[in-house]
Amino acid sequence: MMQRRAGIVLTEKKSHLVENRLGPVMRRFGFKDTASLLAELRHGHEALVQAVIEAMTTNDSAFFRDRKTFDEFRDIVLPSLLVARASTKRLSIWCAACAAGQEAYSLAMLLDDRKLLAEGWTIDLYATDINGQMIARGEEGLYSQFEVQRGLPIRRLLTCFTQEGNSWRITPHLRRMVTFRKFNLLDSFGWLPDLDVVFCRNVLMYFDQKTRLSVIDRIADILAPDGALLVGPAESVAGVGVGFTPVENAPGLFYKARPVQLLRRAG
Ligand SMILES: C[S@@+](CC[C@H](N)C(=O)[O-])C[C@H]1O[C@@H](n2cnc3c(N)ncnc32)[C@H](O)[C@@H]1O
Repeated sequence: MMQRRAGIVLTEKKSHLVENRLGPVMRRFGFKDTASLLAELRHGHEALVQAVIEAMTTNDSAFFRDRKTFDEFRDIVLPSLLVARASTKRLSIWCAACAAGQEAYSLAMLLDDRKLLAEGWTIDLYATDINGQMIARGEEGLYSQFEVQRGLPIRRLLTCFTQEGNSWRITPHLRRMVTFRKFNLLDSFGWLPDLDVVFCRNVLMYFDQKTRLSVIDRIADILAPDGALLVGPAESVAGVGVGFTPVENAPGLFYKARPVQLLRRAG
């Protein structure tokens, strides 16, 4: 069911994890054991199916996770796009598995540093995830002390968040830059506009090869010819599906077709 509905492969090795994560779902829906939960799942009780999918997803994330990827976006991808899109002043970016929104807000911070909105740019920044609870968290924009401590420089914490008790809320300005939506990567990408940049990080690794290929191919379909795809540093799309070209010395960064000229921002 997880593979069919979410693309997520659960091997024998994950049986302990499955049991742990089904525990709270069993309690919530009043099942005595996993056998009765599984029997009900087979009947396709949709609320239960959704609860199981959400319980089985791994939503670990952090602000500026894998810092180098965000440096690549800031220093390689963004400067080239700002030149290429100077006439339209429009950028469309998609975080395709955004967990609780940390990745999208990290991007919003980098875009905000460049004062693009003040310069008349329109930025469409979409953040989607299959897990509705994660989307609700991203929309709420409220993070624990532990979450903001992971990877977020203190300067950013003080300028981009306000403290609420033990938690930290993203500023309304950054909140407004991100559009959250619950979305399954197995479904049609038809609602998305043509995109300049796609972040699809640390999610392909949960899929089987066929699903991975299908997602990558469909990302290529909606990426602009000079658009960039960023995956996790340990993930690769080189050599699979359509021709994505890796950028030298930039782990996780791929271009649909290598742009004529890549500009690296000085400093
Ligand atoms: C480990 S997190 C990665 C979050 C973020 N991209 C990062 O790298 O920090 C993986 C996310 O992928 C989501 N996910 C898993 N299967 C999905 C699917 N079929 N469609 C959309 N999102 C999915 C999970 O809900 C989870 O939030």
